Amino acid sequence: MQDIGINRISFSTSRYFIDMAEFALSRNQVKAKYYDGLMQEKMSIPPPCEDTITLAFSAAVNVTDKYDIEKIDLLIFATESGIDESKSCAIYIHKFLNLKSTCKVFDIKQACYAGTAAIFTAYAFVRANPGRQALVVMSDVARYGLHTPGEATQGCGAVAVIISENPSIAVINPKTGIHSEESMDFWRPVGRNEAIVNGAMSAKKYLSFLKRSYEDFQKNNGMELDHICFHTPFCKMALKGHIALYGNRDNFNVNSIAYNRLIGNCYTASLYISLISLLSNTKEDLSRRIIGLYSYGSGSVSEFFSVRMQAGYMDFLNIDLFKKNIEDRIHISIKEYENIYDSYCLDDIKNLDYLTSGELRFLGVSDDMRVYEKYKR
Ligand code: CAA
Repeated sequence: MQDIGINRISFSTSRYFIDMAEFALSRNQVKAKYYDGLMQEKMSIPPPCEDTITLAFSAAVNVTDKYDIEKIDLLIFATESGIDESKSCAIYIHKFLNLKSTCKVFDIKQACYAGTAAIFTAYAFVRANPGRQALVVMSDVARYGLHTPGEATQGCGAVAVIISENPSIAVINPKTGIHSEESMDFWRPVGRNEAIVNGAMSAKKYLSFLKRSYEDFQKNNGMELDHICFHTPFCKMALKGHIALYGNRDNFNVNSIAYNRLIGNCYTASLYISLISLLSNTKEDLSRRIIGLYSYGSGSVSEFFSVRMQAGYMDFLNIDLFKKNIEDRIHISIKEYENIYDSYCLDDIKNLDYLTSGELRFLGVSDDMRVYEKYKR
C-alpha cells in the first residue's frame, strides 16, 4: 500500500499574549495554580482584527509558501469557532490562497476532534485519487466567559497540514482506535461566542475516552510507541493523559507541550501544535520513530492513531518560523486583554486599528458580510 501522510505542517497564533502570573493576580489566585496546577505560562489573545479565518490563513500561507499549490485538489477546514452558520470557512482560505477552481472545499465540525476527522478524510481522498494532494487547516479561538474557571484555558491558533503520497514528514497509519459516545461536557449553542463547559466532567470524559480509544488502537495494532502527543486543552491535561496510560509521570515528554504551554488551547489545532512542539524541540533524531496521537472532541468523539516519522523530516520543518511565531508576540496587560475580549466580534473595530494581525486582517462587518483584506505591513 502506498505511504500517505504529512508532507508539510506549520502553525500560527495571534500577535498578543497575557502572562498567567498577571492573570492569577487579577483573579485573586496564586501564580502556581496556573504555572503548575494547569501547567500554563502564557496565553495567546486574538485582537478584534484576527479571527478563525485570519489565523487559518497565516498557517496556510506558511505551508504553501514556495509550494506548488496547483497540486492541491481538496481543502478541508476544521473548526468549532466558525464565523458563519452556513457558508464554509474553507472557501475564504480558497479565495485568499488563490487555489484552483477545481479544488473541492468544505468544513468539518466535531469540537476539537474535527482536525483529525479532516486529516483522515484527506487521507481517504489521496488514497482514492493517486497523485492528488489535500490541504487541511484547523483553526480556533478558544473562548469562555470572563471570570469563569474556563477563562484560564483560552488561547487561539491554527495548524495547516498538506497530506500527500510519499510524504516528507510522517506516514499516517490508517489502523486507528475510536471511541464515540454522546455527552454534554462542552458545547456552544448557536448564537453564542463563548463555550459552555462542565470542567470536571470534561476532564473525566477526556481520560475515559483516551483509555477506550487506546485499547481499540492496540487491539488493531499491538504496537509499541516511542512518544505520544495528546490533545492539549491545557498542559496538565496532557500529563494526566500520560499518567492514565502509564500509571506515573516518568517519561512524560515536556517537549510535546513546549508551544501549548505558551499559547493555550486552540481546540482543533491543539493536538497538532503538540506534535509540532515535539518535532521541533526534541534533540534526538525521530526518524522512523512511531508517535501516538490522541485526539479528543467534546460531545464526544476520540481517535487514537499513530504516525511513523520519515528520515530527513527536519528539512521540512521551519523551526525558525515556529519560534518567531511565539517570540515575536506582544505582551499585553490584563486590562488590555479585557478590553479586547469585550470588543471581539464587534462589527465596528475601527477604534482598535492599532492592533495588528497575521497575513490577513478582519476589517469588520458590512451589510451582514464579513470583510477581510491581506495585511500590508
Ligand atoms: N499550586 C499548584 N497547583 C494548584 C494550586 C497551587 N497553588 N492551586 C490549584 N492547583 C491545581 C489543582 O490541584 C488542580 O490540579 P489537579 O487537577 O491536578 O488536582 C489544578 O490546579 C486546577 O485547579 P482547579 O481544578 O481548582 O481549577 P478550576 O476549578 O479553576 O478549573 C478547569 C480548571 C476545570 C480545567 C477549568 O479551567 C475549565 O473548565 N477549563 C475548560 C474545560 C477543559 O479544558 N477541559 C479539558 C477536557 S475537555 C477537552 O479537552 C476539549 C477542549 O478542548 C475543551
